[in-house]
Amino acid sequence: MTFRPPKGTDDILPPASQAWRRVLGTFDSLAERYGYELAITPIFEATEVFERGVGEGTDVVQKEMYTFEDKGGRSLTLRPEATASMVRAYLGSGSQTPMKLAYSGPMFRYERPQAGRRRQFWQVGVEYLGEDAAGADIEVIELGYRFYQDIGLEGLEVQLNSLGDPADRAGYRSALVDFLTGIADRLSDDSRRRIDTNPLRVFDSKQDRDKLAGAPLPIDYLSDAARAHYEQVTAGLEEAGIPFSENGLLVRGLDYYTRTVFEYVATGLDAAQNAVGGGGRYDGLAEALGGRHVPAVGFSLGVDRILLAMGEGGGEPAPLDAFVVVADEARRAAATGLVRKLRETGLRADIEPGARSVKAQFRAADRRRATAAIVVGDEWDDGEVTLRLLESGDEQRVGNDAEIISTHIGSETS
Ligand code: HAM
Repeated sequence: MTFRPPKGTDDILPPASQAWRRVLGTFDSLAERYGYELAITPIFEATEVFERGVGEGTDVVQKEMYTFEDKGGRSLTLRPEATASMVRAYLGSGSQTPMKLAYSGPMFRYERPQAGRRRQFWQVGVEYLGEDAAGADIEVIELGYRFYQDIGLEGLEVQLNSLGDPADRAGYRSALVDFLTGIADRLSDDSRRRIDTNPLRVFDSKQDRDKLAGAPLPIDYLSDAARAHYEQVTAGLEEAGIPFSENGLLVRGLDYYTRTVFEYVATGLDAAQNAVGGGGRYDGLAEALGGRHVPAVGFSLGVDRILLAMGEGGGEPAPLDAFVVVADEARRAAATGLVRKLRETGLRADIEPGARSVKAQFRAADRRRATAAIVVGDEWDDGEVTLRLLESGDEQRVGNDAEIISTHIGSETS
């Protein structure tokens, strides 16, 4: 009997996993250079963390959570996103100073699976906690933009909007309710229900989006302070040379946002899942979780979707620099020692672990796309190995020292 991965989940194996390693590595080093330190939180949380954090009225909480009761009768949920967890952890740490956190890992949402919309998907993200200055918003948006540049994603757009503060939202809400009530007979049942409970979430409805032309927009209801913050963000992005467009309809699907919201859009993907990342400011989230006031801003980027947009996922296996061929089993210990030293010099090197014919070992070296085969045979007694370049077939004897071999291979590949 064989099993397949559950619906909406994927096995990520070589060669596709090569691109994953590159993208995750790029994020890791970039976040570190911007001063974001690693945070690891549990993959499941008390269900309330998401109900209160992400918001009861959102699609994520109402329809998409993997919620279960554990053997102790607690209601737990596989995290649908990480921001609420990061804030919970920050509050729990008792820290009173700002914290810049970076994370990477799987998230879970019970969605209708399709390309770029998975039930288990991978996000990388940062959260700048405890900082209300617009400079934090700018830095976060810039970091995401640089990441897409570094991995070579083309056709990327940054979309920006501001949702204002809770007080601004109250004025906006009543204008929006009036507008939606006026068109209620044309709205879906879901949206009609939301008019009273959470009218902003009507913008999330794919069915109703085109009926919202002429709806009042949050950006027109900002207080002076929220407007000044927004203007600082736009000015800072211009100064940083980050191209962006303002999108008054961008409200994001989670309830915790205040002021700045943004999305990174890959223009090459279908509109239904062309957001390759998104984020914003969430100054009220810590209080919604029962904590003190912690202004904060962050983003999460969807790695599955990014790789889809880049057309990555196939490709060749990762190449090796050197494949050590054991010409004579009596030399195995020497050959194993050599492969170890080659790896220490930083080369990607491998060897067959058991006895094989020399021909079979060369076939393995070709299959692994090695630059060179290093043959360990009788010449070892003279302090040498035979180095064969697999593409040209050129052969020469070189010293059996890992550094010497590494220099020879380096001059071939540079
Ligand atoms: P989000 O917009 O829900 O925001 O998700 C961020 C990104 O995760 C999306 O733009 C998309 O690329 C990817 N994503 C979401 N759902 C799926 C899915 N089912 N399959 C594949 N990819 C998906 C958040 O999660 C917030 N925590 C962002 C944030 C951080 N806001 C402030 N800080």
